[in-house]
Amino acid sequence: MHISNRLIKYFKFYIGAKGLRGYGIHSPFVFNLVTQIIRKNKSELFYKKIEKHRKGLLKNKSVIQITEMGSGSCKYSGKQRSIKNIAAHSLKPKRQAQLLSRLVGHFQYSHIIEIGTSLGITTCYLAQVNPKCQVITLEGCPEISKIAQTTFDSLQVKNVQLMTGEFKQTLNKAIEGMARLDFVFFDGNHRYEPTLDYFNICLNKKHNNTLFVFDDIHHSLEMEKAWEDITTHPEVKATIDLYFMGLVFFKKELTKQHFKIRF
Ligand SMILES: C[S@@+](CC[C@H](N)C(=O)[O-])C[C@H]1O[C@@H](n2cnc3c(N)ncnc32)[C@H](O)[C@@H]1O
Repeated sequence: MHISNRLIKYFKFYIGAKGLRGYGIHSPFVFNLVTQIIRKNKSELFYKKIEKHRKGLLKNKSVIQITEMGSGSCKYSGKQRSIKNIAAHSLKPKRQAQLLSRLVGHFQYSHIIEIGTSLGITTCYLAQVNPKCQVITLEGCPEISKIAQTTFDSLQVKNVQLMTGEFKQTLNKAIEGMARLDFVFFDGNHRYEPTLDYFNICLNKKHNNTLFVFDDIHHSLEMEKAWEDITTHPEVKATIDLYFMGLVFFKKELTKQHFKIRF
């Protein structure tokens, strides 16, 4: 999508969205979530260690061989990439990664899947909020996977299982190995069909309190169509569009409602 179209799109979103103070949000569940978790910006000790590691990756000029898989929001699509380039363009920024961590902590999720590991920075945010939780993270490019593993080793993150391979294969295996599915972060292969496929695979193991988070829901027309289909799915209840990502809740006690929040 052209940059000017993106700006117009974001402007329209901004005008129509509600703020983080929660004015005009009539669902008590969503109001509390927005005002107490999404808005909150507290710092944890482990955040500092992860961000220090990210800084190191941002300075790392080593070049690795990329196995291109799917489509992403990253601007670079060559066969070789420096680690600093990946760190600069493919990872969730700290504010968004910390929000994911707060969500996992708040709902005390313990069975987590991340679809799209990259260098493992967001994975660490998901795993370190509760070292007893089980995180399975999926990455297709073997060289990127190796760097992610060094991230986990150097930050001594032990509750992450990294599965390397095409999502189509690894996602099914990951789900089979999980007693239940509390939280899924969909952050790879941002296209219509794969996104809907991964969504449908994960739906099989969701429960009433499961949360799905989709990255880059406005990244392209395809992703916007995927997001629209997800929000209208009969099993989906409340959704929260934060523009950069979308939250999907299945709680039967909620009335079906869609919220747009400026994050
Ligand atoms: C946007 S990055 C993930 C960023 C990470 N979640 C973070 O915030 O730090 C997406 C990753 O998914 C991987 N990927 C994309 N499509 C894939 C596919 N079909 N199978 C396996 N891996 C894939 C890419 O190699 C890339 O490293």
